Amino acid sequence: MNIEQVNLGDRSYPIFIGKGSSSEPQAITDSVLGNDVLVLTNETVGPLYLEQIKASLPDKNIVTFSLPDGEQEKTLKNVHKVIHHMLEAGLGRDATLISLGGGVICDMGGFAASIFMRGINLIQIPTTLLAQVDASVGGKTGVNNSYGKNLVGSFYQPSAVICDTAFLSTLNEKEMSAGLAEIIKYGLIHDTKFLSWLNDNIQNILKHDRAALGHAIQRSCQIKSEIVSADEKEQSIRAILNFGHTFGHAIELQTGYSDWLHGEAVAAGMVLACKLSAKMSLISKEEVEMVKDLLTKAGLPIEPPDINTNDFINAMKSDKKVKERKIQLVLLQKMGEAFLTSEYSEEDLLEVLGG
Ligand code: NAD
Ligand code: GLY
Repeated sequence: MNIEQVNLGDRSYPIFIGKGSSSEPQAITDSVLGNDVLVLTNETVGPLYLEQIKASLPDKNIVTFSLPDGEQEKTLKNVHKVIHHMLEAGLGRDATLISLGGGVICDMGGFAASIFMRGINLIQIPTTLLAQVDASVGGKTGVNNSYGKNLVGSFYQPSAVICDTAFLSTLNEKEMSAGLAEIIKYGLIHDTKFLSWLNDNIQNILKHDRAALGHAIQRSCQIKSEIVSADEKEQSIRAILNFGHTFGHAIELQTGYSDWLHGEAVAAGMVLACKLSAKMSLISKEEVEMVKDLLTKAGLPIEPPDINTNDFINAMKSDKKVKERKIQLVLLQKMGEAFLTSEYSEEDLLEVLGG
């Protein structure tokens, strides 16, 4: 088991990475405070892994709550149901909430933990590749509503993240590819060496090769930790973690949070961000093609769905980075370096969205 660290002073926490890490006492038992535990999961992940988590905590009073599966379930209404269940079970301020699931469950579990009794101990146990490399780390929690993605939420750090790579064995190929979108993102915004390693190892990751998968998760968590440790509440550099996301969130909103996986929408969004960066002569057209090839090798879409350009722009305006009503975008300064800007021409943006 490898351990990475998010450095936030007295709120610093470890990320345990490795096969079987969720059964390691150092990772799970030591991170639970008090006797009462709520494990939040969903109808897909619960039947696969809930008993295993319970068995790792034999001396605790474990209450469970399972939600229906799907991004469309990431709602305030469901967080309310979780809170009610905890109150009905008599849990108090000394309880620990464990999220056991993908990014949807981690985001909702994190949000519920942040508001229950003004904040209780939280452990994230992500079970998708996407959640292990991104959603479970860094303390962003929240839910969607009809106005857009993640518009209600909080910054609330867990006391531990446990990335058990054994859980990924039941994940389908499409979900593995969705996770790869966020992994490729880290290479594009921060580390060209990692990007070229990914180019050589993408098939091994998709084949669940233990060493390749382990390295991809570890390097991604290192990059995310470094950025979050420098800017926890997204006052500056953390915004680059949203590379491709303003476009991607618009795709998700326009397709009703159901047809496109988050990682797929981010992949198509990253291509649009690269195309705009190339229009501004920051990167070359060849580099855009290289990004498209890498995403294609990862099994990801490189074109957005057919959305009317005005609808696309309107959906992008619901992004949290909008400032003085202008959409701010994360673009590439060069390969391996991203920046947040509102200094782009509307004409270029319209052209990129128009094809
Ligand atoms: P998800 O949580 O919907 O999981 C994808 C699917 O895989 C679901 O059907 C789920 O039930 C299933 N699943 C989960 N683990 C499984 C396993 N081990 N075996 C078999 N099936 C399994 O989606 P996701 O891609 O994990 O996360 C996407 C969400 O994460 C989005 O809501 C996105 O906004 C959020 N996110 C948050 C952050 C953050 O920093 N908080 C970062 C990135 C993404
Ligand atoms: N996924 C973007 C962030 O955590 O800031």
